[in-house]
Amino acid sequence: MHRHTDTPSEAATATDPAGTTTAPTDTITALGLVPAPSRARATGDAAFVLDDTTTLVAGPGTGSTERWLRATLGAAFGLPLAPGREGGPGTVELRTDPALAPEEYRLTAGAATGVRLTGGSPAGVFRGAQTLRQLLGPGAFRRAPLAPAPRPTVPAVEIEDAPRFPWRGFMLDVARHFTPKDDVLRHLDLLAAHKLNVFHFHLSDDQGWRVEIERHPRLTGTGAWRPRTKYGHRASDLWDETPHGGFYTQDDIREIVAYAAERHIRVVPEIDIPGHSQAAIAAYPELGNRDVVDTAALTPWDNWGVSPHVLAPTETVLRFYEGVFEEILDLFPAEVSPFVHVGGDECPKDQWKASPLAQARIAELGVGDEEGLQSWFIRHFDRWLTARGRRLIGWDEILEGGLPEGAAVSSWRGYAGGIAAAEAGHDVVMCPVQQVYLDYRQDGGPDEPVPIGYVRTLEDVYRFEPVPPGLSEEAARHVLGTQANAWTEVMPDRARVDYQVYPRLAALAEVAWSALPAPAARDFAGFTARMEPHYARLDALGVGYRPPGGPLPWQRRPGIGGHPLEGAPPVV
Ligand code: ACM
Repeated sequence: MHRHTDTPSEAATATDPAGTTTAPTDTITALGLVPAPSRARATGDAAFVLDDTTTLVAGPGTGSTERWLRATLGAAFGLPLAPGREGGPGTVELRTDPALAPEEYRLTAGAATGVRLTGGSPAGVFRGAQTLRQLLGPGAFRRAPLAPAPRPTVPAVEIEDAPRFPWRGFMLDVARHFTPKDDVLRHLDLLAAHKLNVFHFHLSDDQGWRVEIERHPRLTGTGAWRPRTKYGHRASDLWDETPHGGFYTQDDIREIVAYAAERHIRVVPEIDIPGHSQAAIAAYPELGNRDVVDTAALTPWDNWGVSPHVLAPTETVLRFYEGVFEEILDLFPAEVSPFVHVGGDECPKDQWKASPLAQARIAELGVGDEEGLQSWFIRHFDRWLTARGRRLIGWDEILEGGLPEGAAVSSWRGYAGGIAAAEAGHDVVMCPVQQVYLDYRQDGGPDEPVPIGYVRTLEDVYRFEPVPPGLSEEAARHVLGTQANAWTEVMPDRARVDYQVYPRLAALAEVAWSALPAPAARDFAGFTARMEPHYARLDALGVGYRPPGGPLPWQRRPGIGGHPLEGAPPVV
């Protein structure tokens, strides 16, 4: 990395005549910040060096950042960061200023000033603290000081920064392969380091149920494990005969939620209904369509794809899931989880077509057909969640049969569902499979581990635009933001998840945070330059990302079948 910090430089972000921010420029590149801030200026002051005498002054409302700085930078550099006095020399000062937007912050650093960090809210202060950590170099990402310890140094800069979108997310599928609690906490740390603020927690699917529900103990007793697992894509003929499973106790969930809240990250719990429900039906056979299949013979699925076993459209099933969601609302309080995800994706209608009971329900409810039944499920839980002060979000299939008022959509099958929802006045999170599914392979080469889907390179993700062209201005305001989704069928462990998710989630973070120009005009070379110091940060954190040159030998998975799709992904 080349530093250009010895002379003061102009505002680092160029502005076009219309006032629109364009590409990050030299100072930001020199600082290696990811995601790029709105503006950075080298002040010409000398750098600020932290030492044993550096104090931390935390204004009202900045306690989460105070605790985080002391725990993180204190550990990395072996510094006490003792409480200090405002205006004293050699201080790191945190404060809030309601004149700034909630996640906006200003950071000034230098020998004369120490560090002054002001956020529009406690969340803004915390986002700014992430920038401070990046300014301190890769050593700030370690958990103990190296010996001899490098002097922790902050370059003399002024930074102004605010996010483009309020929803900057990452979805992790812990159903197909369980992610142990410690690794979930680590993901939250990684999201925080990238200024991401939404963790979409995919807690149930055909292959496993991952959250303890006290009134329905078999959901985890039976539904949280399977005796064996398909190894590779479903077309592979390999099986892993090791039993697989795991779940979060209610206290684990409370810990995860508290950990996220301390980092100003929202958690969106997902319980997928009425499809993707085989594990729940295996645990409680009365949830399934017993008049067409022997649901008592089911186990959580050991293979991939979309299971035909879907919920029966009965009052018993509604009451059962109201019980589930009551416990979910208790575990995920409204301040951290205003949105609750009910899935709604990929619900095959074959069992309902074959089921006399389901057909009788269609007639009784007057919903017309099987699509109407699906919509009946979603509308029921929309009303139920709304009455409890929460907002329903679902995959874009919930548009079919008409979207309940107030519901939001995760647009995954392409842009189209999101465009339709946004034009109809619904909030939307753009996460099209063709663009930001991180299970898709990162390169077309033969060494990619278990390659599935289209090639989505780091540059492809960097050039993803969450607001599709042609959307009216009013509809565009309903695009809350974007998230990348990591489905874990072919990612059985942390090493595989790290490889698929990083570095692409860093690109997604910049797309979501930074005011980048239109995709073709984005400065990918500049991003690549900033990724160099960022890789050093990820190395210090122990993230097993895909190196720019391709997988290391131990990151390959020779002989395990994938399912690559050829050509460019369609834009739909
Ligand atoms: C999905 O990928 N089925 C939401």
